[in-house]
Amino acid sequence: MATADNESMTSQVNHVRHVVVVSSGKGGVGRSLVSAMAAVGLARRGLNVGIMDADITGPSIPRLFGMTAHPESSTVGILPPETATGIKIISMNLFLDDSGQPVIWRGPLLTSTIKQFWTDVAWGDLDVLIVDLPPGTADVPLTAFQSLPVGGILMVTTPQELASMIVEKAAGLAKQMHKPILGIVENMAMATCPHCGEAFELFGPSHAQELADRISAPVLARLPIDPTVTALADTGHVGDVKMAAFAPVTEALAEYVATASTASATPNSAPAPQASRSCNDRN
Ligand SMILES: Nc1ncnc2c1ncn2[C@@H]1O[C@H](COP(=O)(O)OP(=O)(O)OP(=O)(O)O)[C@@H](O)[C@H]1O
Ligand SMILES: [Mg+2]
Repeated sequence: MATADNESMTSQVNHVRHVVVVSSGKGGVGRSLVSAMAAVGLARRGLNVGIMDADITGPSIPRLFGMTAHPESSTVGILPPETATGIKIISMNLFLDDSGQPVIWRGPLLTSTIKQFWTDVAWGDLDVLIVDLPPGTADVPLTAFQSLPVGGILMVTTPQELASMIVEKAAGLAKQMHKPILGIVENMAMATCPHCGEAFELFGPSHAQELADRISAPVLARLPIDPTVTALADTGHVGDVKMAAFAPVTEALAEYVATASTASATPNSAPAPQASRSCNDRN
């Protein structure tokens, strides 16, 4: 359990200016990748960034960065290990001796861990803490919204209607918690045909704009499926990923960090998403 003592010690060293959560309705839509790429993009701009991997039972942030170092304890709190570019990371997997070991916990343990990730970790001086939430609207997302000073939310979805229907539920939770949605990232929006090199919509046409209209948030980016990105991410080199389509997301977050003074800052606007072309368009 988090203790008042731990919290009072970390509060002496912690200056976390903004907390941004990355949320989705469905799992497997690329939420952790988006969290990691956002942190990498902001760190490249010289910001002090941390990532809280709030997906306790399915933590994947350490693997994306190839990180295995266990967090150490200090007199002021738990010290989050840092990536090569100085991104501070806390994840359940960093506390396990075997990263494949399952965490079989019920809700109360999960939620107290999330609270401890905030109260007992010596995050230090951060411009932004990115929180990779588990999917859905259950205990952990709810605890994160209630226990952390969340300033804004990035919603990640994919073009399947099911994904956008379920992300709307996550957006509903955000609304009930009075947290602004900074924008929507539609991941896996298109792929490139290996034969003709044309982009095509692997999962069907985009629903991002309809979703954006319904939840009153801008579409920040539509990201392609890029096998190079999968290879880098899955081998611990997410820090080397360069995806041009992601730039508006970093831009919007940097703008938010630079201008928002409170968690109730207004959403940022973003460039219109690019339409994709298909093999059929060409013929
Ligand atoms: N745009 C993309 N291009 C290539 N690979 C991608 C892309 N988005 C996600 N992936 C890959 O898809 C897999 C799932 O992504 P990720 O783990 O980020 O999803 P998630 O939403 O966090 O899943 P979970 O619900 O299990 O936490 C990973 O192997 C990731 O590298
Ligand atoms: Mg994940």
